[in-house]
Amino acid sequence: MVIGLLGLGTIGSGIYEHLLKREDIEVKRILELLRPPGLEHLETSDYSEILDDPEIDTVVELIGGIEPAHTFTVQALKAGKNVVSANKLMLSHHMEEILTLAREMGVEYRYDASVGGSIPFLYNLARHGSADRLTGVWGIVNGTTNLILDIMQTEGRAFDDVLAEAQKLGYAEANPSADIDGIDAQCKIAIASAVAYGHYVRVEDVDTEGIRHIKAGDLIHFKKLDRVCRLIAASCVDGNGVVSAYVEPTLVPADSTEAAVHMNNNTISVSGEYFGVQTFQGQGAGKDPTAFAVELGLRDIMDGVTERMNPLPKGYAAVDNRLARHRYYLRTAAHPGVPVETLGECEGGAAYRTEPMTVRDMHDLAKSLREKDPNLFFAGIRD
Ligand code: HSE
Repeated sequence: MVIGLLGLGTIGSGIYEHLLKREDIEVKRILELLRPPGLEHLETSDYSEILDDPEIDTVVELIGGIEPAHTFTVQALKAGKNVVSANKLMLSHHMEEILTLAREMGVEYRYDASVGGSIPFLYNLARHGSADRLTGVWGIVNGTTNLILDIMQTEGRAFDDVLAEAQKLGYAEANPSADIDGIDAQCKIAIASAVAYGHYVRVEDVDTEGIRHIKAGDLIHFKKLDRVCRLIAASCVDGNGVVSAYVEPTLVPADSTEAAVHMNNNTISVSGEYFGVQTFQGQGAGKDPTAFAVELGLRDIMDGVTERMNPLPKGYAAVDNRLARHRYYLRTAAHPGVPVETLGECEGGAAYRTEPMTVRDMHDLAKSLREKDPNLFFAGIRD
């Protein structure tokens, strides 16, 4: 296999180092604008040197973002090259186009690394779906927010303080929005839901709330409720094929699987009619774990075992977040305007527990209350 590598950032340099140790995969060209020293003989800033090289059969796209990753991917597939990628943002916005084009061209688009990093989750999700009707997917799919929430709760520290530390340690980006506003998790649950239910899920249909507004004062109430806060991405499908899909901070029981997931680890569960529930855990991010997942995709292409990973979803799912319903923790300085039990005073207002309400209604309520209290925080409560 001969590779054109797009991007030599954290994951790109990880896969380059891994592949140096392999004799059967050659990295022939690297597209990298920053041009780090020592690799001048491989580097180019001209994508056509990869695209037009008939020896390069596979493009590894690790530049992230929507453009130019999308254009480069389409061009590579049209040129008859396989593409292996970790780019959940691009894929979640162009999944139908990319998977359909790969199928039409008779090449592979492998995206194992886009959800769950090193965890063999998407592969098994696709495989399980060939022998069962999958009914739900949920879990912790963003390592950065889990690290922040975990440290806040074990050390009783404030959000801004822990975020700054996570940035210093290289876990959180300088612009942390994709992680802390739930966008990364939103893209991942849209991709996983499409693989699980066989219909594409539009990113904008996934109601999404991040952890930006959590305060140290909230932690006191979580403890009183014997709960731990995690950022959970979840989706399920009903018997008519209607999907609910959302991302929100969630108060999970202190003895639950998710509460036991610490630091930047991920856990993802899947349910099926026949097999019940299965849970996968491991490193969902980082240089070596993600490079490992990329290499798995490359090896599967070489071994010709990619078919299962490439079910082609058909059309778009109807998404209705009025199908999912639970109680919420709500902390606000505004009047909640829905039936609540008051939990007590809290930094930033008062803390409440709502009656069971739909995900749609809660996300709408938060939007309208934020006109009066932009710093409102809410979290689903799981029994
Ligand atoms: N920023 C992501 C995370 C990287 O923290 O999980 C992996 O997708």
